[in-house]
Amino acid sequence: MSEWTKSSWRAKPRIQMPDYPDQAALEAVESQLARFPLLVFAGEARRLRKHLAQAGRGEAFLLQGGDCAEAFDQFSSDGIRDTFKVMLQMAIVLTHGAKVPVIKVGRMAGQFAKPRSAPTETVNGVELPSYRGDIINKLDFTSEARIPDPQNMLRAYTQAAATLNLLRAFSTGGYADVHQVHSWTLGFTESEKAEAYREIANRISDTLDFMTAAGVNADTAHTLQTVEFYTSHESLLLEYEEALTRIDSISGKWLAGSGHMIWIGDRTRQPDGAHVEFASGVLNPIGLKAGPTMTSEDLKVLMAKLNPENEEGRLTLIARFGAGNVSEHLPRLIKTVREEGANVTWVCDPMHGNTIKSSSGYKTRPFEAVLREVREFFAVHAAEGTVPGGVHFEMTGQDVTECTGGVRAVSDEDLSDRYHTACDPRLNASQSLELAFLVAEELSARRAAVQAQATG
Ligand code: PEP
Ligand code: CO
Repeated sequence: MSEWTKSSWRAKPRIQMPDYPDQAALEAVESQLARFPLLVFAGEARRLRKHLAQAGRGEAFLLQGGDCAEAFDQFSSDGIRDTFKVMLQMAIVLTHGAKVPVIKVGRMAGQFAKPRSAPTETVNGVELPSYRGDIINKLDFTSEARIPDPQNMLRAYTQAAATLNLLRAFSTGGYADVHQVHSWTLGFTESEKAEAYREIANRISDTLDFMTAAGVNADTAHTLQTVEFYTSHESLLLEYEEALTRIDSISGKWLAGSGHMIWIGDRTRQPDGAHVEFASGVLNPIGLKAGPTMTSEDLKVLMAKLNPENEEGRLTLIARFGAGNVSEHLPRLIKTVREEGANVTWVCDPMHGNTIKSSSGYKTRPFEAVLREVREFFAVHAAEGTVPGGVHFEMTGQDVTECTGGVRAVSDEDLSDRYHTACDPRLNASQSLELAFLVAEELSARRAAVQAQATG
């Protein structure tokens, strides 16, 4: 086996990556990026890894969410704030149900490159290369817009840096102080779930008042005033990833400095491919999407390549089989993990196996199917005696109409009202909150079952 370097992926077969027409322009951008500051730090990635190890053991729970694809023209302070807010609300609901810490990881500050099911797209008889995310080309349906332009990487970097800067400020500057639990409510989340959220928030406020009266110590106060918020994205555009990969002086290991956690998509997880090669050598926690076509044989090889030391928290398996398919696929992969004695953290992505075309022509996801896949994921883990470690959602704090259903029912006809995603349909704020309540119920049922087993 040849030695890993941050460029060794270049000798491997690559798919889902653009062929830049102007090599000199590409190289100029790469060398510029290679001088820029990293967006995240090794100590942070290691800390997240520790948290994910806890999630793998059932001592914490991962909430990973954000846009399918971040877009240049939708970049706004309010957009980031609202997604951050909904995630805080969801985390409160989950913590309340699970009684374990919730690890908050945004699909943010780097989620720009998209794998596509076809290399080209045809509209009214005109065929053009597919849109691959703003870091690569443009969504407009013109041949000019679809040419991959390396300059987009610089703009993506700048947007990611500004996003992270805001997230860091929100996390530690008082905004995420749990005393603000009531103020995270978004106006348009009004529903029975908003009421349920208010009840939890009231109980938390009471508890906080009590703690203050009882003279809580400064350490605890600090913990309650800040949150840890991490970033993640699909590590797809490897020229960008490589340019932001540097050695960590403390451990002597390589860090992908573009985000805390990176994942490998369901389409680019070939064991001998470029994407697996790149991820195998960096110290970050790695996510691996597993869809229905994941074989046991591939999973074995991938676990060995991506986590040769079998470290807890290093590898998160993100199951995305689609509602109705979980009991067919999850048990066989759990069996493989068990046979290998591998440490993994199991996470459910109920989005990517449930994408359909609506009667009105929009790509959508029925909320009912999303809920069903989550329930199936928990049921299989309960039956197998394994740990459901987290959830992975495409969601936004904006009041969009992209997924159908939910308590404030979005119908097929409503989709055109506020359909803003550059790629896959996202849950809106009220659907996200509703989903958090369902997951919280599943978690508290699991907790009760585990406790009953321990005492019985
Ligand atoms: C995604 O998470 O946006 C994605 C493309 O997922 P998957 O690789 O699971 O299809
Ligand atoms: Co997506």
